[in-house]
Amino acid sequence: MQTLAGKKILLGISGGIAAYKCAELTRRLIERGAEVRVVMTTAAKEFITPLTMQAVSGHPVSDSLLDPAAEASMGHIELAKWADLVLLAPASADLIARMAAGMGNDLLTTLVLATDAQVVVSPAMNQQMYRNLATQDNIATLTQRGMQIWGPGAGQQACGDVGPGRMLEPMDLVQRCEGYFGPKPLRGKRVLLTAGPTREALDPVRYITNHSSGKMGFAIADAAAKLGAEVTLVSGPVHLTTPANVSRINVSSAVDMHAEVMNQASAHDIFIGCAAVADYRPQQVAAQKMKKTDDSDTLTITMVKNPDIVASVAAMAQNRPFTVGFAAETEDVEQYARGKLVKKNLDMICANDVSVAGQGFNSNDNALTVYFAGDATRPEGKQLLPLASKAELAHALMLLINDKIS
Ligand code: PMT
Repeated sequence: MQTLAGKKILLGISGGIAAYKCAELTRRLIERGAEVRVVMTTAAKEFITPLTMQAVSGHPVSDSLLDPAAEASMGHIELAKWADLVLLAPASADLIARMAAGMGNDLLTTLVLATDAQVVVSPAMNQQMYRNLATQDNIATLTQRGMQIWGPGAGQQACGDVGPGRMLEPMDLVQRCEGYFGPKPLRGKRVLLTAGPTREALDPVRYITNHSSGKMGFAIADAAAKLGAEVTLVSGPVHLTTPANVSRINVSSAVDMHAEVMNQASAHDIFIGCAAVADYRPQQVAAQKMKKTDDSDTLTITMVKNPDIVASVAAMAQNRPFTVGFAAETEDVEQYARGKLVKKNLDMICANDVSVAGQGFNSNDNALTVYFAGDATRPEGKQLLPLASKAELAHALMLLINDKIS
C-alpha cells in the first residue's frame, strides 16, 4: 500500500555500523510511495557507499556543504525546505552531540538547522556510549527542542556488548514514518494503559509472576500515539523499548500499578487494562531470603487478594475514563469475558484465547474478540479482530475504541 505516497523524506546517515541497513530502509520507504533523498556524513561513507545509496534512492547523494556542483542542482537550503520529514538514522553519539551544540559544521547538521520539517533521531551506538550522561543530556536537549527520538532498541551489539543502542530495524522505522504521516483521529484524547506482568515479592530475591511480555500493551500504546493520542503507559517489568511519544511509568507489583493508575486515571479519557496483573500476592514478604528447611518437604504460602485495577477505574464516580479490560482465558472464552465485562462494569473487554499456540502471551501475533457493553443509545455488541500481528490488532482496536467514544 502507498501509505507514504508523495511524502518527502530526507534520510541523514551518520557513521555507524547500522548504516548498512539504510539501503533496506530506503527501499521500503520508496516501496510505500515516499521520495527519499540521502545525505551522508564523511564517517557514514566508511560504512555504506554513496553509490549504493544513490542506486536505491534513485537520486545523487549529498555529502558536502561546499560543493559548487551540488549546490547548483539542489542547494542545502533548498534540500532543507524540500523535506516533509528529516530522519537521522543511524544517528551516532557524535552527530547527536553536534546537533545538541547547535553546530552546522557539515551538510547534515546544517540541514538540521535550516529545516522547518520534523527532525527524527534514531540513535545507534555502543551501549556504554548511549548510557553516558553526556549523550543522555544531549538527547534530552534535542527532545526539548521538539525533535522526536525513535529508539534505540536493545540487544546484542556489533562490538559484542549487550544493551541499549541498536538502531531500530528498518521496518520499525518505516512503520513509525507511516504513523507520523497517518491520520490522527485520536488527537486531543488522553489514553492511559497498563502492560506487562506484575511481580509479587516473596522475599528480597524471589517473586511470583506470569508470562506476559508486554508486547500487546506496548503495541496498543504505540498505535494510540500514532493515531494522535497523548499516551501514558504504566508498565510492569518488561524488556521492551518505549514507543515514540509515549510517557512510560515503570512499576513492579500489582499494588504499585494500582496506585499509579489511580493517580493518573481522572486525567485521561480512555483506560485500557492490558497488563496481566496478579490476582493475589503473598501475605508476608520475608525481610531476609527464605531458607530451605529439613523438617518439611512442602511450603505453604498464604496469598491475599490484590486490588482490581480495571474495576477500580470503572468504579470511579468522577472523571471516569472509557474503561477497557482484557480477558486472558483458556476455556469458555466468551462466557468468562462477558462475565468480566459485567462484573467489573467495563465499557469494553478484549478476549484472547491464551491456550492457542502462537498467540496471547509472549507471541508476536494475537486474535481478539471484543465485547462491548450497551447503554441507552447503543446496543451491546461483539467484534472479531482475527489473527494478526499485535501492531495491526492494536491499530484496529484503537480505531474501534475511537468509534465507540465518538
Ligand atoms: O504481554 P503479552 O505477552 O503481549 O500478552 C498479552 C496478554 C495475553 C497478557 C494480554 O493480551 C491480556 O490478555 N492481558 C490481560 C491478562 C489478564 O490478566 O487477564 P485476566 O482475565 O486475568 O484479567 C481481566 C482484566 O482485569 C484485565 O484487564 C486485567 O488487566 C485486569 N486485572 C486483573 C487483576 C487485577 N488485580 N487487576 C486488574 O486490573
